[in-house]
Amino acid sequence: MEVIIQKDAAAAIDLTARLICHAVQDKKDSVLGLATGRTMENLYANIVQRYDQGEVSFSRCSTFNLDEYVGLAPDHNQSYRYYMNDLLFNKINIDLEETYLPNGVAADLAEACKEYEEKITDKGGIDIQLLGIGNTGHIGFNEPLSSLASRTREKALAPITLEQNGPLFDDPKEMPKRALTMGVGTILDAKKIILLATGKSKASILAKAVEGPITSMISASALQLHPNCVIICDEDAAEELEGKEYYYRIFENEPEWQVYH
Ligand code: GLP
Repeated sequence: MEVIIQKDAAAAIDLTARLICHAVQDKKDSVLGLATGRTMENLYANIVQRYDQGEVSFSRCSTFNLDEYVGLAPDHNQSYRYYMNDLLFNKINIDLEETYLPNGVAADLAEACKEYEEKITDKGGIDIQLLGIGNTGHIGFNEPLSSLASRTREKALAPITLEQNGPLFDDPKEMPKRALTMGVGTILDAKKIILLATGKSKASILAKAVEGPITSMISASALQLHPNCVIICDEDAAEELEGKEYYYRIFENEPEWQVYH
């Protein structure tokens, strides 16, 4: 695991966007694992800007989102399908048919989850998985006690998550209590993982995920098991990391990161 601390959210987002766009230019048919949440809104705006400037093309990419609420139709303004179309897919040259999200309105949710896993496998697996971190320490919607070997499935949302995301709904009570999410095992199968965390509200949970013990109580801690995982954060989110000075030194001295300074 590597931890890259940038001075502010804009710099952390810019670095993440650059890494993703470079990867897509290197492998034009990249399979991207995508995330939602407030943190990603500016990231997608940055990627769209790079696309507009001709820096990157997504015409041969396919994408898989981490999760979707159960019971929200794709045209509901809080569904993750709506979010992705609105903030990214409708603004770049990706083939919409090649953008996948778990189907939260399927008649048979378990079957939809199984098909989602099969689709990821058919496409050759995820090249780069983008992640945020929720206040429970979740990645995707892998709430506390999610098995570290879990696959895509239906999950009940934790009270802290309902509190975190409820305000995004016109009426917080409208927020579904369940979601379909890639499992921790699904996420760990990605070839590369980038977790982006910004802001003081993430400082405590980020320190636990990165420097604490691996535990199903904090699904992001399972990223310590991944051989190619980068955490990109701003100084606010890095505030409680004990090894901060060490992480700065690695970033400065690792040849792989020279082009990103
Ligand atoms: C939701 C998503 C997570 C995301 C989290 C962070 O809960 N399911 O994948 O990491 O939001 O949200 P925010 O960026 O708004 O803090």
